[in-house]
Amino acid sequence: MVVSEDQTQREKEKQLAAATALRWIRDGMLLGLGSGSTAAYFINSLGEAVRNGQLQVQATATSHASDALARKAGIAMLEPRRGLRFDLTVDGADELDPQLRLIKGGGGALLREKIIATASDALLIIADSSKAVPQLGRFPLPLEIVPFALPWVLDAMEALGGAPVLRTDPNDAQTAVQSDQGNLLVDCHFNALPDPAQLAEHLQRIPGIVEHGLFLGLARAAVVAREEGVMLLRP
Ligand code: 5RP
Repeated sequence: MVVSEDQTQREKEKQLAAATALRWIRDGMLLGLGSGSTAAYFINSLGEAVRNGQLQVQATATSHASDALARKAGIAMLEPRRGLRFDLTVDGADELDPQLRLIKGGGGALLREKIIATASDALLIIADSSKAVPQLGRFPLPLEIVPFALPWVLDAMEALGGAPVLRTDPNDAQTAVQSDQGNLLVDCHFNALPDPAQLAEHLQRIPGIVEHGLFLGLARAAVVAREEGVMLLRP
């Protein structure tokens, strides 16, 4: 596989954002762990600090993949339970705008990501420079759908002006991707989302959409890494 200079730079930025986020972590914290490649860099760095005895933390992950990675890295994992709140969740994003409104779910973990972000005192986003955009919407909006509802959800998304596409296995277009909950994922192309709040309200009223990838008012800060260094963004 040929890796372009751009891709190599993006990977460096992801690593830098993840390493920078480690500065936010204090001994004894309860953490939410995000999903995706940037969150994976963070989990690996956190695991190293735990194994070196620099930090003691407990965490819950937002996907089976992140949970397995965190356990392998030596991080103590917590099962969901009543009253559990996290001091901080560190997660990636597919897009973030200047108000730190996000599109998430490119990795299919949007439901657990929103559950854990909402159960956290703060959500810190870590991202490479390609994720920071002036307006959300170039990245297709991920939706998690109850399988039975799929045809009606596709109709409803078209009526909202989107072009919905069922997410399938990149190696087998006949096989639908399933979320960790066994639901389907739909990526809805809009090109631009001038009013994310209004769209989120519409989506909440469509039966069968378990969750959508608009994260509004959740991110407390974002560490965005660029070639020239790291930027800390606040809404
Ligand atoms: C997964 C997510 C990820 O945070 C998002 O897709 C970013 O991933 P990456 O860090 O690999 O670019 O929302 O559901």
